[in-house]
Amino acid sequence: MTNFRFLILLGLASASLSSVGAEPPHVPGWVRTANASPEISGKVLLTELGCGACHAPGNTALAAKPAPDLSAVGARVAGGHLRKFIASPAATKPGTTMPDVLGHLPAAERAAAADALAHYLATLGSAPMAFAKPAPEAVERGHKLYHSIGCVACHSPESPLPDSVPLGPLEEKYSVASLAKFLEDPLAVRAGGRMPDLKLDHFEAQDIASYLLRKQTSSTATFQPDAQLAARGKALFAQHRCDACHAVGSGRPTPIALPTLSKVNPERGCLSARSGAWPQYSLSDSQRTALRAALSAQAKPLNAAQNIELTLTRMNCLACHQRGELGGVPANRNPHFTGKDENLGDQGRIPPPLTGVGAKLKRDWLRDVVVNGASVRPYVNTRMPKFGVANTEVLAGWLKETDTLPVAAFTRVAKTDKPHEVGRELAGSKAFNCVACHTFREKSAAAIRSLDLMNLTERLEENWFHHYMANPQRFSPLTIMPGFWPDGKSPLPDLLGGDPGKQRDALWQYLARGPEAGEPRGLVLEPLIVSVTDEAVIIRRAFPGIGKRGIGVGYPAGISLSFDAGQMRLGSLWSGGFIEASGIWRGQGAGQAHILGKDTVNFPAGVAFAVLESPGNTWPTNDAKQAEGFAFKGLTLDAQQRPTFRYEFGETSVEDTFLDVKVTDAKSHFVRTLKFPHRPPPPGLHFRVAADKQIETRGENAFGVGKGLLVRLPAGAIVRGVDGMKELLLPVRGSFSIEYHLTAKP
Ligand code: HEC
Ligand code: HEC
Ligand code: HEC
Ligand code: HEC
Ligand code: HEC
Repeated sequence: MTNFRFLILLGLASASLSSVGAEPPHVPGWVRTANASPEISGKVLLTELGCGACHAPGNTALAAKPAPDLSAVGARVAGGHLRKFIASPAATKPGTTMPDVLGHLPAAERAAAADALAHYLATLGSAPMAFAKPAPEAVERGHKLYHSIGCVACHSPESPLPDSVPLGPLEEKYSVASLAKFLEDPLAVRAGGRMPDLKLDHFEAQDIASYLLRKQTSSTATFQPDAQLAARGKALFAQHRCDACHAVGSGRPTPIALPTLSKVNPERGCLSARSGAWPQYSLSDSQRTALRAALSAQAKPLNAAQNIELTLTRMNCLACHQRGELGGVPANRNPHFTGKDENLGDQGRIPPPLTGVGAKLKRDWLRDVVVNGASVRPYVNTRMPKFGVANTEVLAGWLKETDTLPVAAFTRVAKTDKPHEVGRELAGSKAFNCVACHTFREKSAAAIRSLDLMNLTERLEENWFHHYMANPQRFSPLTIMPGFWPDGKSPLPDLLGGDPGKQRDALWQYLARGPEAGEPRGLVLEPLIVSVTDEAVIIRRAFPGIGKRGIGVGYPAGISLSFDAGQMRLGSLWSGGFIEASGIWRGQGAGQAHILGKDTVNFPAGVAFAVLESPGNTWPTNDAKQAEGFAFKGLTLDAQQRPTFRYEFGETSVEDTFLDVKVTDAKSHFVRTLKFPHRPPPPGLHFRVAADKQIETRGENAFGVGKGLLVRLPAGAIVRGVDGMKELLLPVRGSFSIEYHLTAKP
């Protein structure tokens, strides 16, 4: 052990880890803002490099970008990587924005400090890291997602592009599970939102993590934290002021109160080329110049327009959006912005411009978009990310303040002139035919399915609507959205006297009725039925009663199920059709599948396996979305694509297979087999088959559950009453099978 550590120390000490000559920090807003004013780009460096964590920023707009929260870093990052990265951040992850804080120490002392710090950090977070080789199908799906939903707006696609936010050596840093957890909620670790939340569901995160770690081999060396070293590391963490930037536990970072940035000598300390007891950033000459310029101007308060520019630049909104002269999708990344509907041209694939967006969107909607990533364009593959309240809420206010339009003149249509009926007429296929290009409550009339007419008035300022409708090309020169009143005249003189302002108002009043608005003429109902033929169909999406970790399976025998991969339980069973998917298609990751069964049987939330010391013990409440102690391990498919669910709880692994059995055309049932391939189940293990008000014996080892289900079990099942409910439990001693028969007439 001692020898081993000695070798590592030597290894680190002999490699030249000085940050001199290292790649300068990659600050996205600095790298890609050719048009930003020099004053703004220097300020972007000040915040993104965290200067304000140690030097009083003197201006809230210049507060430091929050560094990652290290509370559970030991469960997220491999120990060996921690040691390397802390000893030499820029050499380990070229372009990192973390400065080298230990750089002024003699090489051996630096290596020893990094080692102790790594041991300390490795003790933070409970679960040890488990490495597993990513599944090839997951890598394939992740590859597609990574290149389509917006990651490559900022990061490099598979064939590298310059000006990309570096990802560093992910294979030596994360496991698939820890990276997926990070990607599912990046703001929990990196609260600054520079790595925004792309609204990934559990499976998408798993797939992308598998793709990013596609070159990982099974075991990265394990790392055993040593208690003594960890204690020393803890002291060093405070001594070297890591805590000025990083929070640990419930604590917040502890800023050092060095003199205000406006008062520093810009030739010295962190901005000098010398090494000393300050962090080293390996700044490029142009970065140093911009920082100096920003320091001398930094005390001046910013106006709303400057605040907008600063925020859009440092959050890198400009990687996806254009606003006036700023930003926009660069030519070399343009092919990665794709859409589902070619008819819509660039508007169906490039994120909408932000020019004048404060005058366009209502305050609440604008806030919901920039804070939560609210979205209405399901046909755009790139996602509007979620940036979080702390990072972008104030931006909505600045945009409302800055962007204005003159008040449009029009005459309001009186109730007596029936605005709702006229509006409906105008929108229909005999008049302006809005439904030829826009959906209406998710239904469409034609191949083009642009923005839904039903959420226009909820999102848009009425004043903007009038300006836009009068001349859409003024707002987006290339739009296929036509102007309906050429030369200010209506082609429909019989409606409201042909007054363009009144006709626009009638459309607005009609659309603003929301659920009350009758359908315009010309719509056809077009549900998206997912049908099942001779192979099983698997949809991993949100299902009713389960949420995002749902897996729906439609079987060739005409019966279907949903499985909850968070609690490892059966969610529901039904027969007839499988699902209708327009909710999924519309939701950019947020919608639910609509189950088509009329005889659906739902099973109660909560885990299906538990160890009961005695049969009288109550069933544990472990009904969190991700049940504690349980882990989903993926699917394997048989020749008919029917899945076996694989999962673990504690030390026990389970293989859970449902086979559909067709007896007659109208009658099918499931045979479910649960196996314990690695070790026998622990003593006292019970399986909860069902819980319902009504559970009755129906012959030997058969039970009726509620109104619609009959189950056949192995011998030994127990029915017991709990608070007016009954539970059907099966003591588990080894592999077993259950039959599920749906008995209600659909
Ligand atoms: C981890 C804490 C920390 C961070 C982050 C930090 N500094 Fe420093 N800085 C120091 C320390 C410590 C000194 C030395 C103070 C002294 O000698 O009194 C210093 C000194 C300086 C000085 C010289 C002060 C003088 O008047 O002698 C300048 C200029 C400076 N820093 C600029 C920056 C800039 C710009 C950034 C961001 C790119 C930055 N610092 C980030 C800790 C930090
Ligand atoms: C708006 C730009 C942007 C988008 C879009 C974006 N990222 Fe990031 N990402 C960043 C930035 C900036 C960082 C570094 C954040 C920091 O310094 O705290 C980062 C950090 C990361 C990291 C952590 C790297 C490390 O060293 O631990 C991973 C992994 C990552 N991104 C993956 C992704 C994936 C996958 C997607 C798409 C689902 C994505 N990013 C989308 C900007 C972006
Ligand atoms: C000026 C602020 C600052 C200081 C001081 C600082 N860090 Fe960091 N640290 C960062 C930033 C920013 C990142 C994210 C860098 C990236 O993703 O490239 C980071 C990343 C890390 C990570 C990786 C975390 C993860 O989840 O990916 C570790 C570990 C870490 N720092 C440890 C330390 C230690 C130990 C010290 C003290 C020796 C320290 N840091 C000092 C800003 C700082
Ligand atoms: C990865 C690319 C990406 C990034 C980065 C991004 N957006 Fe978006 N944004 C989109 C997409 C795509 C849409 C359209 C979403 C929809 O309606 O379905 C959108 C929509 C919007 C809208 C609504 C516009 C309208 O007319 O409906 C606003 C406002 C907006 N984004 C602001 C921002 C801000 C502010 C930032 C930075 C904090 C940002 N976006 C970062 C992709 C991005
Ligand atoms: C020939 C196709 C077409 C027709 C017909 C059409 N639109 Fe559009 N419309 C579009 C497209 C494409 C967009 C841009 C969508 C985007 O930005 O993603 C659009 C955008 C809009 C917008 C701006 C929405 C926003 O948030 O940017 C409004 C409002 C609108 N249409 C209303 C209507 C109304 C009302 C009618 C009927 C009077 C109509 N449209 C008819 C294609 C059409």
